[in-house]
Amino acid sequence: MRRPPSLSVTPASGVLGAHVAGVDLAADLPDGTIASIRRAFVEHHVLFFRDQSLTPEQQMTFGRRFGELDEHPFVDGRDDHPEVLEIVTEPDDTVNFGGGWHTDVTFLDEPDLGSILYAVEVPPSGGDTLFADQHAAYDSLSDTMKELLDGLAAVHSAGPQYGAGGYSTKSKAMDTKNEELAARTVEHPVVRTHPESGRKGLYVNRAFTIGITGMHPFESRALLDLLFRHATREAFTCRFAWEPGSVAMWDNRSVQHYALHDYAGHRRHMRRITIKGDRPV
Ligand code: SIN
Repeated sequence: MRRPPSLSVTPASGVLGAHVAGVDLAADLPDGTIASIRRAFVEHHVLFFRDQSLTPEQQMTFGRRFGELDEHPFVDGRDDHPEVLEIVTEPDDTVNFGGGWHTDVTFLDEPDLGSILYAVEVPPSGGDTLFADQHAAYDSLSDTMKELLDGLAAVHSAGPQYGAGGYSTKSKAMDTKNEELAARTVEHPVVRTHPESGRKGLYVNRAFTIGITGMHPFESRALLDLLFRHATREAFTCRFAWEPGSVAMWDNRSVQHYALHDYAGHRRHMRRITIKGDRPV
């Protein structure tokens, strides 16, 4: 299917990410435009749109074109739309939501396929988000390391973030819930195959991956540390500077991301929805 004439897709870095122009995400978009966005999403892993104006309902309508929306199990969404997270960092917050490398909700059996983030209010400078391409990270490993990793499973849990005594990287304005359920664990392959592109990518992250199945803790710790560092090397990243009305839409099957908190004394307000995914294989 050809790309609609008005839609332009321009790579945002040498490795991942693309700027998409010529589309109003609040509009009732034709199927052809959605198909083009989905193709670009799978190819570039994170898409950036500027100058959008979205109500929560319009953001949800756009998101539903890609699948069913999910509710965060441990963070309160909006009262009127529980699927919508208002991600607010106040000027005096010392930590921020998403302030560390992670892939969204890998502690679920079927982690979300993707996330769509809309910037409502941004600090005068700073507050960028980093993205890291997990296919590029996997591809650059030696064949010997790939062979080892291809057969492994990792244990994921929300416990370190949302469990009792957990260190939740979230600002004060955001309420958490269901603490008693957070200790549950789930296993996913260390290397997952993207269900649409067929590409392999690393699928472990510092926030939620707590061990490697079948390894002694000291082995698991050392291997995970190596993978966490490798997966987020500069060579695999791109960086997005937000403006009010910017939208980023990322593929959680392909990237990790990191919301920088380098704007103390200023407010940042983002609105996020997530699209349900499937069991990683
Ligand atoms: C997130 O991790 O979903 C938040 C990203 C951001 O606020 O830039």
